[in-house]
Amino acid sequence: MNDLIDLVASAKSAFAGALTPADLENAKARFLGKSGQITELMKGMVALSVEEKKALGANINAAKQAIEAALAARRQALADAEMASQLAAEALDVSLPGRTSGQGGLHPVSLTLERIEAIFGSMGFDVAQGPEIESDWFNFTALNTPQDHPARSMHDTFYVEGGSEAAPNLLRTHTSPMQIRYAVQHVKAHRAAAGIHGDALFSGDMPEIRVIAPGRTYRVDSDATHSPMFHQCEGLWVGENVSFKDLKFVFTDFCRTFFESDDLVLRFRPSFFPFTEPSAEIDIAFQSGPLSGRWLEVAGSGQVHPNVIRNMGLEPEKYIGFAFGMGPDRLTMLRYGVNDLRLFFDGDVRFLSQFQ
Ligand code: DAH
Repeated sequence: MNDLIDLVASAKSAFAGALTPADLENAKARFLGKSGQITELMKGMVALSVEEKKALGANINAAKQAIEAALAARRQALADAEMASQLAAEALDVSLPGRTSGQGGLHPVSLTLERIEAIFGSMGFDVAQGPEIESDWFNFTALNTPQDHPARSMHDTFYVEGGSEAAPNLLRTHTSPMQIRYAVQHVKAHRAAAGIHGDALFSGDMPEIRVIAPGRTYRVDSDATHSPMFHQCEGLWVGENVSFKDLKFVFTDFCRTFFESDDLVLRFRPSFFPFTEPSAEIDIAFQSGPLSGRWLEVAGSGQVHPNVIRNMGLEPEKYIGFAFGMGPDRLTMLRYGVNDLRLFFDGDVRFLSQFQ
């Protein structure tokens, strides 16, 4: 009897010591297998009397059942542990932030262009786009800058192969050619509407021309404040009665809205451009903040030259207006306090993502 109790105890401790299902099956064989200890005890009963068989048989059976129960319990415990470790290994922390694919955003200069378009749009200006590969005629000649004009040397032009008036041959050095392109279309549409044919300059009635033309421009130039590709935004307002006073009003309103600063002041400094007479550089100064106390040049401007009015197909005795050309890159630098223009075009996401 004591032997059986010891046997059950040693089976239980063997099972407890088995750390894997394979170990457990080996331990089981030692007690319940074909030549296991319980099996051997059963075999030994053959020689016993019926009475002895009854008494010992019942005890062996009880021991066998106890060992089987211990085996089943250990199997379950090992299976539970296996499941628990699998669950732990595959655990999913649903509170972790997800891995998003990086979200893009608009380039700071694009943000400025959108802002310019919205402000001039609210003042009734149309927005026009034009070609970046331009002809000599639209870029220079039509803007009162003939072949031998010294002002041409102010623009370090990228020339491209081929070209005639019909086939463009340079990278536009400014957005001013859009003055001509847009005005010519506008005049053509109203001549057609009025049924006026022929080449004579238009002196009939038509709605005013009010347009801005933002876009890329190119010059052979590169340093902290110049890039071979840069942006400009042209402005043009032509009508029968548009004066310098209107230019001052419109541009002052634009600058104050753009920089969200009511105390910003403007200075129109006499200058020269072939396509305007008189001409002025527009400087701004902030009355407060980090840039206060300095005049900062933001645009060229002037009253559209009569020769340019003619090249638009308009009669200069009737039509008059003003134009301006500003640098959105420079406006972006001033607005965000960036001191190197090249940062905008290096494509470094660490820099660009600060503007979102
Ligand atoms: N096109 C000139 C430039 O790139 C800027 C400019 C000056 C534009 C005067 C204008 C203007 O429309 O009236 O330097």
